Amino acid sequence: MNKKTSKKSIRLPIHISPSYYNLEIRPDLESGTFSGKEIIKIKTNKDIKQITLHSKDIKIETVKINRSQKVIGNKKNKTTKEQFSYKIVYDIKKEIATFYFKNKILKGTSELSIIFSGIINNHLRGFYKSKYVIDGKEKHLATTQFEATDARRAFPCFDEPAQKAIFEISLIIQNEHTAISNTLPVNIREHSAGYKIVSFSPTPIMSTYLLAFIIGEFEYLEGYTKEKVQVRIYTTTSKKNQAKFALDVAIKSIEFFNEYFDIPYPLPTLDLIAIPDFESAAMENWGAVTFRESALLIDEENSSLSNKQWAAIVIAHELAHQWFGNLVTMNWWTDLWLNEGFASYMENFCIDHLFPNWNVWSLFLADRYSVAQRLDALSNSHPVEVEVNHPDEINEIFDMVSYAKGSAIIRMLAEYISEDQFRDGLRHYLKKHSYKNTKTTDLWESFEKTSGKPVKKIMNSWTKQTGYPLVSVISSNKGMELKQERFFSSRISNKNNTEKSLWQIHIKYNIPNNTKELNKKSHKNFITNSRDERILMDKRSIIIKEKIVGKINKDEISFIKVCYDKETLESLRKEIVENRMGVVDRLGIIRDIFALAEGGYISTTEALEFSLSYKNETEYIVWSEISSGISKIYNLINDEELSIKFKKYALSLFSSIALSMGFEKKINEKHSDVFLRNLAIGNSAFYGDKKVIREAKKIFDYKIEKDISADIKGVIYNVVAQNGNIKEWRLFESMYKESPMHEEKERMGRAMGSFKDKSILEKTLRFALSKNVRNQDAPFILSAVWTNKDGRDLTWKFIKDNWTIILKNFAEGGHFLSRLLSPLGNHTNINDLKDAKLFFKKNNAPGSERTLEQVYEKIQSNSAWWKDDKKDIENWLNKNY
Ligand code: BES
Ligand code: ZN
Repeated sequence: MNKKTSKKSIRLPIHISPSYYNLEIRPDLESGTFSGKEIIKIKTNKDIKQITLHSKDIKIETVKINRSQKVIGNKKNKTTKEQFSYKIVYDIKKEIATFYFKNKILKGTSELSIIFSGIINNHLRGFYKSKYVIDGKEKHLATTQFEATDARRAFPCFDEPAQKAIFEISLIIQNEHTAISNTLPVNIREHSAGYKIVSFSPTPIMSTYLLAFIIGEFEYLEGYTKEKVQVRIYTTTSKKNQAKFALDVAIKSIEFFNEYFDIPYPLPTLDLIAIPDFESAAMENWGAVTFRESALLIDEENSSLSNKQWAAIVIAHELAHQWFGNLVTMNWWTDLWLNEGFASYMENFCIDHLFPNWNVWSLFLADRYSVAQRLDALSNSHPVEVEVNHPDEINEIFDMVSYAKGSAIIRMLAEYISEDQFRDGLRHYLKKHSYKNTKTTDLWESFEKTSGKPVKKIMNSWTKQTGYPLVSVISSNKGMELKQERFFSSRISNKNNTEKSLWQIHIKYNIPNNTKELNKKSHKNFITNSRDERILMDKRSIIIKEKIVGKINKDEISFIKVCYDKETLESLRKEIVENRMGVVDRLGIIRDIFALAEGGYISTTEALEFSLSYKNETEYIVWSEISSGISKIYNLINDEELSIKFKKYALSLFSSIALSMGFEKKINEKHSDVFLRNLAIGNSAFYGDKKVIREAKKIFDYKIEKDISADIKGVIYNVVAQNGNIKEWRLFESMYKESPMHEEKERMGRAMGSFKDKSILEKTLRFALSKNVRNQDAPFILSAVWTNKDGRDLTWKFIKDNWTIILKNFAEGGHFLSRLLSPLGNHTNINDLKDAKLFFKKNNAPGSERTLEQVYEKIQSNSAWWKDDKKDIENWLNKNY
């Protein structure tokens, strides 16, 4: 349990609520400061003498309250005298300021005027500065990033999602700058010499975390939706030629959501802005969505397909929020998953519609879904609906449980109640709660209304309990018995667990007909003869009458793992080998088998043996699971001889697929073959396929940088780095410094973490913290070295030695620190666990409390896994390789 969860006092008092803010900000980019004025209309439901609101790193100069009140009897509008507060008290820990007044402020509405000043910081949150270079000259822009709790760094406000209000913003800026905010400018006037004042039209009623203002020198590309919404992609100078793809996707996504939600996008304008320094991928500010460059800008020649797809997904995600999140907002951060889980569901739903041949749902399964299952298999995971109070706790739940488990359980629900009823439920919910706030139950109620099914009862079991179930399949003389228990990826957590959770599991399963007979028949016959069934498993154990079952959790609809008895597994294996099983089910089986081995439910060698059934596999998403399963086991091996044998095993799978994919794109190949090629080459080279390494190096030497196809650049750089030396490192370093393209820098940074030589890896670590690397990118480079086995120990040492700098650069309340620390979970040595615990006892890691608990659990698990299965793995490898 998190120590801080009792801090309820962190919430603002409920007797004051704002309805309107008039906010004027005057930024000074050069000095990195701003001054501001605001008038907030507030309503109080009792007489008060003090007002508390959020404020962080802000100096409040004066506070005045002005009360207008209808006096009954007199029937005249009487304005009580204005009064200034006589005392302002800051509570730095709670991030609040309290204003004290001599005279009572009577119940009713008042106007609170505040004059203040603050800092345009370098922390990528609140109101912050971003730098870039044009023609050798350093340029500055300033932008906001308020979610979750940083509007309070830009102006004193009631910074909670349920304190919705209307905002009218004015910005005083240099004449040559552009100002962007949530709405359109309605008035631009001269202010003082060289300055203008830009006033924006009032926003809809909205939460503080969705406000935005951005100033700087921008260019843009513009288009319109069918419904005449003006859409602009803003970039810094000379990058708008990379904005075309984003503009297209944004327009199409808005049109799609307009229709799907049956509510028109409520603003006349939508801006998408690429910011050179940005912590996450993007932020859904209403009408003014901000992005990191690599998540928005696509260069048709130099961007890889995977980046293009990522940009499309991110755009659709943020635009889904314009309804789900912005129009209807969670009441408190406990229901954050409503925002993020839904946007994560809708991003795939929308992009699947816009780019059907991308098959994004299957990519979702292979990527985020699997990552979420891994995270949620820890006893230190958290329920989807989770109590949070302090900003550090709030920031920590922007994780794969809220996003990917959230979207996976929504996908499960949509399948359960049918797509049409799902859409109708959504429409009902969005219409009913427009401009208001909701809790999770409000959503379930809408779905119950449209579907008539017990949605709340079923879904509560998925959002209120931590973890997810393992369903075991055991044949008995009565039929097939299905049992459920919580799944743990750590055998130790499993052993220590005392909770008894129970899930309502919607199980779709396959009934094959008599396998033996059917084997003789044609493949097609088999498919038509098998059938799918559904059952709601609402008990710990149920019996399915059929004597034989095929794939349980058909199409991987439910967020579960499945463990089969030997006989059933063998018949599934045959289906795989004989190519009689659908791709998503092939993925699910191997994913679960590797996970069961890790958790100690089956032996690791069973998993290794089973993986060999996939030799003829042709689909990227399945290979992706095989690859991560294998790499987890490779991660444990700490002995040279064993490592050589293990590599032989890995190559027995990857070499032939690398050979058949080749290095060149084939005409008419499947969309996902581009990814499969990368994966096959990457793995073969990683496990030492000399031919593949030679070929990759050759391509690099011949073509360097420009002419290598963008789709394959990343993997070629990695292979060159893995087999390279200081000469290559220097080349990457200079390419990193020189490339103007963020996506290319990201590729280069990853490669710089892939070298084998320790002294070179040290250089990469230092490079990551140098001025050549933006703070937004440094954690990725540090993690690249840390996840590289050869860099593991030295990165940990580096992190400890440089903890003060790390804290200074990455601990301003965001996700950097927790993201940065998560590779610690790959360590396998129990002494490292002791060391880490000791270190973090002495040194605080703000916002990473839960991450650290998860990391500790993983190290402990790795160590126990290796201890239990080492001998067995050794024997298996000796026998076979
Ligand atoms: N609301 C988030 C941005 C955010 C994240 C703000 C964390 C504050 C803290 C945004 O909608 C988001 O989820 N962005 C994702 C991209 C998405 C495609 C998963 C991100 O930035 O990773
Ligand atoms: Zn989001």
